[in-house]
Amino acid sequence: MTFMVMIETANLILRTVTMADINGVASSWNLDKEPISRPEAEQKIKWMLSNHAQNVSGKVIHLCLAVIFKDTHEFIGWCGLDHTNEKDADPALFYLLKSNYWGKGLATEAAGALLDYAFAQLKLASIHGGAAPENFASKRVMEKINMKYTGLDEEGGYAFTINRDEYLSIQRGQG
Ligand SMILES: CC(C)(COP(=O)(O)OP(=O)(O)OC[C@H]1O[C@@H](n2cnc3c(N)ncnc32)[C@H](O)[C@@H]1OP(=O)(O)O)[C@@H](O)C(=O)NCCC(=O)NCCS
Repeated sequence: MTFMVMIETANLILRTVTMADINGVASSWNLDKEPISRPEAEQKIKWMLSNHAQNVSGKVIHLCLAVIFKDTHEFIGWCGLDHTNEKDADPALFYLLKSNYWGKGLATEAAGALLDYAFAQLKLASIHGGAAPENFASKRVMEKINMKYTGLDEEGGYAFTINRDEYLSIQRGQG
């Protein structure tokens, strides 16, 4: 099944990309580093679309959404779920933004919306997340979206998790 996603928040659109986005993907794939070529971008888009086609309700292989700043339509980052590592019990949440967009609450906005989508639409059972030891901003993002800190992982990074019941109970508390 083709799996096109579009999530809108106050400041952002999170969406799957198509071949029509080749220029945005080429310029933003590496965020703060050099752009990739158009043929490389084409390969990345094919890879994402092929992953998305394998995702089904309750089970995600890999979901990679472009983070687009609504005011300017600029591609400013990537956000999604990765369950390509079969050793993982559940998918890993990921988010990354161009550095000139840091410190504005946008990663929290993107990650929170993705979490909502993962439980409400994809019907996932649980999600985990990790932040490198020096990445306090990322640790804070997971705290702010109500993921539960479970301690340090094997590499000394911060490990977080949240399951469906915890998510629903937080939603009820906020409702
Ligand atoms: C992680 C990342 C997305 C953060 O983006 P961001 O948009 O700046 O995050 P937000 O503004 O939503 O929130 C950042 C929070 O961290 C806090 N923070 C930032 N730097 C911090 C530091 N050095 N120490 C403690 N807290 C810090 C901010 O104050 C904010 O918390 P607050 O709202 O309580 O004040 C960005 O740093 C990034 O792209 N990093 C590289 C990729 C990465 O590590 N991804 C995460 C793992 S998948």
